[in-house]
Amino acid sequence: MAKRNYNIAELRALDVAHHLPAHQDYAMMRDIGGARIIVEADGCYIQDGDGVRLLDGMAGLWCVQVGYGREELADAAREQMLQLPFYNTFFKTAAPPTIELAAKISGLLGSHFSHVFFNNSGSEAVDTVVRIARYYWQIKGQPKRSIIIGRVNGYHGSTIAGASAGGMKAMHDQGGPFVPGFEHVMQPYAFGEKRDDESLDEFAARAADAVEQRILEVGPDNVAAFIGEPVQGAGGVIIPPAGYWPRIEAICRKYGILFICDEVICGYGRLGSWFGFQHYGVTPDLVSMAKGLSSGYLPISAAGVSSEIVETLRSAGSDFVHGFTYSGHPTCAAVALKNIEIMEREDLVNRTASVSGPHLARLLRDLADHPLVGEARSLGLIGAVEIVENKATRRRFGGVEGNVGTVVRDLCIKNGLMVRAVRDSIVMSPPLVISRSEIDSLVGILRQSLDEAAPVLRERYAEGA
Ligand SMILES: Cc1ncc(COP(=O)(O)O)c(C=O)c1O
Repeated sequence: MAKRNYNIAELRALDVAHHLPAHQDYAMMRDIGGARIIVEADGCYIQDGDGVRLLDGMAGLWCVQVGYGREELADAAREQMLQLPFYNTFFKTAAPPTIELAAKISGLLGSHFSHVFFNNSGSEAVDTVVRIARYYWQIKGQPKRSIIIGRVNGYHGSTIAGASAGGMKAMHDQGGPFVPGFEHVMQPYAFGEKRDDESLDEFAARAADAVEQRILEVGPDNVAAFIGEPVQGAGGVIIPPAGYWPRIEAICRKYGILFICDEVICGYGRLGSWFGFQHYGVTPDLVSMAKGLSSGYLPISAAGVSSEIVETLRSAGSDFVHGFTYSGHPTCAAVALKNIEIMEREDLVNRTASVSGPHLARLLRDLADHPLVGEARSLGLIGAVEIVENKATRRRFGGVEGNVGTVVRDLCIKNGLMVRAVRDSIVMSPPLVISRSEIDSLVGILRQSLDEAAPVLRERYAEGA
């Protein structure tokens, strides 16, 4: 198929004139003359309109598990579009791929789960699990149970409920008031929050017990659910210490509250298991998922629902008044089914657990010796590098967190690697098809960029500068 040519200068001007991109400073976007226009991609590489190729260390936005350029996915979309591009699930109707995908996902989730509710985005999947959790307690005759407990720096999306469930201060500062009934407790961020006199186990227990404390503060009879990402992604790839999740699960069970895992990033192999909760050996009641479900080729998300909750919904005797025009969109479902088929055929989940994940972890362990690196951590194919001024004391440059991540990120991009800055860390989440030599390049560019940043940052933040 012939590739389209673009007038990049014109597109950038139109971008400034008409397009408001996600999570951006619009004055800054105007001042830099518009976005970098990404025109094509293949495998683990993206290419911009100026012909610059970048290794995609973020798999798009934590989602392109099978890499770019998969004809099978395009074929699946084309075939489904020609047979039945769209139909809804409102009218006691459903399309074949929708049902097949629901059955497939239920199987991947395991026997605790029987059903799936489809949406378009991760945020909507979170809205869905929140509504189901609260409605569940209404049906059970405990309508006071409406509080959802999340965590500081948890990210659950950008809708009003998603932003309310998330613990992102910058989001809470804009566009409120948010939905009442959301609480946030400490994050299991050992690098930032473990005390020197505490063991990792003690820290894990303290972080998990913060959930119990909050349950007791607000009253167990008022709590509907706890929600958390197995590994907090957008919050900075916060990988909880062993012991944290089993303790959280036990606390949820002790007070009879629902346990929700937001698997929008961790699901579909990112941690080396189909879902993050499986890696940690716990069993939630509701699971939100998106991104890797279709490798981002088309927008689709889902909420996995336990059979006990489904039976409760069935006992309500009325409609669950919730859903979207595109819930279970047949074309998106067909692409998601094909995507899972590719992941299974290429054994991408096991490969992440046993080959590529350990390779990334080894290289990051070596990178931890770098003078600017306070910690380099990863699990499966998600990781983060913490940038510090002083390795021993973990002091940040300028004594304040958040000054320098974007400096290193910009150098990475200049050097051919797309990664993301979260405060003073660089986070990464490459396609699951990434090869060993591409992982070598990823970490090599990161090291080179840290080397280049070091003198700049030392000078900028020199005493008295
Ligand atoms: C854990 C988690 N939940 C929810 C979302 C929201 O997903 P979306 O941007 O598709 O609405 C994200 C997005 O990054 C996420 O990481």
